[in-house]
Order: sequence, then structure tokens, then C-alpha cells
Amino acid sequence: MKKNINILPATGKLGILTPGMGAVATTLVAGVYAIQRGLGKPIGSLTQMGTIRLGKRTDKRVPFIKDFVPLTDLEDLVFGGWDIFEDNMYEAAIKASVLDNGTLDKIRLELENIKPMPAVFDKDYVKRLNGTFIKKGKTKMDLAQQIREDICNFKTTNRLDRLVMIWCGSTEVYIERSPAHQSLDAFEKGLEENDPAISPSMIYAYAALQEGVPYANGAPNLTVDIPAMIELAKEKKVPISGKDFKTGQTLMKTILAPGFKARMLGVSGWFSTNILGNRDGEVLDDPMSFKSKEVSKLGVLEYILQPQLYPDLYKDFYHKVRINYYPPRGDNKEGWDNIDIFGWLGYPMQVKVDFLCRDSILAAPLVLDLALFMDLAARAGMSGIQEWLSFYYKSPMVAEGLYPEHDLFIQLKKLKNTLRHLKGEDLITHLGLEYYE
Ligand SMILES: NC(=O)c1ccc[n+]([C@@H]2O[C@H](COP(=O)([O-])OP(=O)(O)OC[C@H]3O[C@@H](n4cnc5c(N)ncnc54)[C@H](O)[C@@H]3O)[C@@H](O)[C@H]2O)c1
Repeated sequence: MKKNINILPATGKLGILTPGMGAVATTLVAGVYAIQRGLGKPIGSLTQMGTIRLGKRTDKRVPFIKDFVPLTDLEDLVFGGWDIFEDNMYEAAIKASVLDNGTLDKIRLELENIKPMPAVFDKDYVKRLNGTFIKKGKTKMDLAQQIREDICNFKTTNRLDRLVMIWCGSTEVYIERSPAHQSLDAFEKGLEENDPAISPSMIYAYAALQEGVPYANGAPNLTVDIPAMIELAKEKKVPISGKDFKTGQTLMKTILAPGFKARMLGVSGWFSTNILGNRDGEVLDDPMSFKSKEVSKLGVLEYILQPQLYPDLYKDFYHKVRINYYPPRGDNKEGWDNIDIFGWLGYPMQVKVDFLCRDSILAAPLVLDLALFMDLAARAGMSGIQEWLSFYYKSPMVAEGLYPEHDLFIQLKKLKNTLRHLKGEDLITHLGLEYYE
């Protein structure tokens, strides 16, 4: 047994602030209230349903994760956020039409009480939306200051002990790192001078980190994946993580691809296409927002299959991802994959996946887990990039020079071993020779 790391207890209330109060955020919040009322179970949430094995298999020590590490109780969560539309959470949830109206009506009062704060928004970053509920400021620094005030007021008014911020806003257009992102000094100068390379999501993140609030990024936006933010997170000793919740098709990819590789089966092509009709789909219909998503989705196979190590199996495999906005389907996405694989002596085979999924039903438990784990990380004194939370992301943030780990099962091992490490338990290597000695 190693030494326990000092983790501050999860006393008092935890505020979860989401820039963006659309389908994902409302499904999370309504879901937590519904679970509190016994109307459903937190399916898909590792923090609520998952267990963790400790010690040897023969020890039979398998507590629930929530009983093993000190996580905030669902009863102690308080929700708030910002949106470019003024709808309260009940109205927004009805519009998102993920959960049925019967369920929403049972928790209507709680949802109506959550009203968004006016957003920081720039149409150049989300071209398909026309916001009406937007902050004004001379400089981007002024806007960051207003978000900081929102955070402080929210904390005081709700008598919160701690906060986390999770981006559930729309996907911003694709940008690459630019000079204003390279250091905190350059970034702050950029905020003062309204540098166009600073996106709204970066303004929220900067405000959060300045207030000591952990920031998790549910979209493929660059946001905290820049040296300036990593520097600020380290300076303020705050955890950050991202990018882009791993839900439907990419989840399937990171389940299947490690299996093909484990059995040394070749892949010559992987064609993925989707239809979805929610607001996210509408935003992604813009080529520059789609580009952010595409980059985030495409990286996965390259890293899992490692063609440089296995040229006979994966060299030049063809990977294509398409997203088609198709309003009739709403949030109920359909994702098709055609996978061309080959086996012994190169004989070709095909795998077809038709995943009729529900985007926000898959995303909501991830937001909950991320909020609880990011808060745990903060209480355990972990700051900067939280690579152990890669499990939740399509495009995980990692230290400079490292390649991201995309294999879902390696990610889960990493996550659970991190929890064991935090509690001074032995890490599990799955060696198991001792059972046969
Ligand atoms: N649902 C999934 O499975 C999934 C998976 C991975 C990533 N995501 C990402 O999560 C995000 C949320 O998805 P969603 O389905 O809830 O989308 P949504 O369109 O229903 O909600 C996004 C909300 O953000 C608001 N918004 C846009 N810009 C904002 C800003 N600058 N400040 C505050 N609010 C802003 C919009 O008005 C909207 O209400 C998207 O970026 C999406 O790409 C979702």
C-alpha cells in the first residue's frame, strides 16, 4: 500500500456551470432531477453505477466508485449557465425534445428556476446561430471580467462551496494555435486588443481558471488546448480537460478498432456517415464548424491502429467521416459505419454498424462524471491537463510531445488506476501470475 494522497472532503454544494444550455445541458440537469425523484436511473454514468476492483481477485473488494473516492452527492449539485437564447431550462428542454414532456413536467418548477445568464458570443465563431441574449463589452477582457463576476455572484447567491465549468455550447469554427495562444502574457494582451484568434469559449475558460474553477471542454473547440491556458491552469492550480465528448460513432470506433488491432486484423477502409437533426447538427452544417468536428473524429483511428508500427495491416487505410443535417431525426441520430477489414492471407471482409443512438442521452452521463471527477481532481490538488479523463473525450488533451490514448479500454484502466493511486491502493496490472505460484 502506498501513501494516501490528501483529498479534501466533498462538503457543501458543488455548482456546475455550463456555457450552453441546449440539448446536452438540459438532458443532464433534467436527468439529475429525475433521478433524485426516482423517475429513472443514472445509466451510462461510471461515477454513479461503476465499481472498482481493489487488490487481488480473491480479495473480493469491489466497492462502488462513488463509495471509494469522495465525490459530491447528486443532492448537492446546483446548476447554472449561459446561453445566447433567454429560454429557461424547462423551455430549452422542451425545444430540445430529448426527454418526454411527461418527465419534464414532473420537474418543471426546478427547471424553470434555472435561467441562463447572457452569453459571450461572436457570430464569426458559430455562423449558423443568431444569438439575442448577449453581453456587451468594449474588449474581450471586459467580457472575461463580466463572466468572472457572474461566477462569483452565482457562487455567493447559491452558497456554493466549489464550482466546475463544462462547455456544453455549440461547436466553434475550426482554428489553429496562433501567436495570442502561445503564452499567458500574449493571451491577456490579445484580450485587451480584441485579437480575433480569441474565441468566446476561451473567454469563458480564462474567466473560470482565473476564479480557480476547473474547466472541461465538451466540444472540439481549441479553448484550453493552448499553451496560454495550460500555463494559467498550472499557475492557478486548477484542472483542465478536453476535448469533445466521446458519445456515438466515435465511441463505437474506439470499442471496435482496438479489437481489430488486438487480433491483428487489417483495416483498408472505414467510412462513417451520420444523420442528425438537432441544433448541434444545424451548427455542424456549417463547413468550418464541421471541420472542428472532423479533425476531432478523424484522429481516433490513426492513433489506435498505429500504421507506422503495422504497415502490413493499416498503411494507407481510408477513413472518411460525414455528418448530414437531417431535421426529421432531431436528437435521435443514426450513424452508419462500413468497415473494410482483411484477414489471413489478405482475404477481405466487411463489418457494418448501424447505430440508432440518442446523442444527448449518451452525452449527459459524461457531463455528470466529468463534473464530479474534475471537482475530485481539484480537491486532490491535481492541476493542469487531466489525461486520466481521456475516457470521456474524442480528442483527449495530453502533455506536449505525447500522443493521445484513444483505446477505450486503456482509457478506462488509466482512469481506474488513477483513482487507486489517489487512494494509495495497489495499481492493477492484470499480471495474475501469483494465482498459479
Ligand atoms: N450530444 C453529443 O453526443 C455530443 C457529443 C460530443 C460533443 N458534443 C458537443 O456538445 C455541445 C452541445 O451539444 P448540444 O447537442 O447540447 O447542442 P445544442 O445546440 O442543443 O446546445 C448548444 C447551446 O449552446 C448555445 N451557445 C452557442 N454559443 C454559445 C456561447 N458562446 N455561449 C453560451 N451559449 C452558447 C446555443 O444557443 C445552444 O443552446 C456541442 O458543441 C456538441 O458538438 C455533443
